[in-house]
Amino acid sequence: TFAAESTGEIRKVDNVAHRGASGYAPENTIAAFDKAVEMKADYIEIDVQRSKDGELVLIHDTTVDRTTDGTGKVGDLTFDELRNLDAGSWKGEQFTGEKIPTFDEILDRYHGKIGILIELKAPELYPGIEESVAKALKAKNLDKPSNEKIIIQSFNFESVKKMNDLLPKVPMGVLTSSKTHTTPMALQEFSSYADYFNPSYTIVSKELVNEVHDLGMKISSWTVRSQETADFLLEMGVDAIITDYPDYVDPRMQN
Ligand code: G3P
Ligand code: CA
Repeated sequence: TFAAESTGEIRKVDNVAHRGASGYAPENTIAAFDKAVEMKADYIEIDVQRSKDGELVLIHDTTVDRTTDGTGKVGDLTFDELRNLDAGSWKGEQFTGEKIPTFDEILDRYHGKIGILIELKAPELYPGIEESVAKALKAKNLDKPSNEKIIIQSFNFESVKKMNDLLPKVPMGVLTSSKTHTTPMALQEFSSYADYFNPSYTIVSKELVNEVHDLGMKISSWTVRSQETADFLLEMGVDAIITDYPDYVDPRMQN
């Protein structure tokens, strides 16, 4: 099954539970993060945004409509308003009462138990969010090189650069699904401030993996929602697989 094995080279990958084990429990909730721990993933991936009154909260969409019983933009709602929403029942009755978590509580609950891949989601909507995220990590001493299981990523490259200046010891990643970002020049530029190049699996090839590695970066790819995609990414030799279903990554291949 595994080309890497057949050539005698066993390459291990990190198993990253996308928004938690979101195939099995409501994304970006404690239910999904606990499930990822239970399933022995290496990391949870979280999406960070900000409430109207400045609290850092975890939710993927920039509105609450899809994943809660409320409506409106995340940044137009106060923390109390967000916290009163039900973020679980859309995924199944058994998850009724799951809350939108804060960034702080997730750092406290999971650091040391499982790695945390932090995505700044639409940071352009939240001026100064980089400073708030950096402050929260520093306050918990999570900005040190020994805490290597904290990684920060974003589709917003200016935001990644800013985070790299604020937290020079924390690994940074750039996210993209665009082939225009895979030219030698673009990759070279990313490597000046990022440690990870994290593309959609739709643009991954062995050549890309090699080019990224040659520039000294790692490559984590998303979003796995089928066994076939997980196997494809293993075959391509990526360093991490970001998946809704942690069990699709063969445990023999996991770090
Ligand atoms: O971690 C990568 C992945 O989360 C990027 O896409 O839309 O799921 O945040 P999205
Ligand atoms: Ca994400």
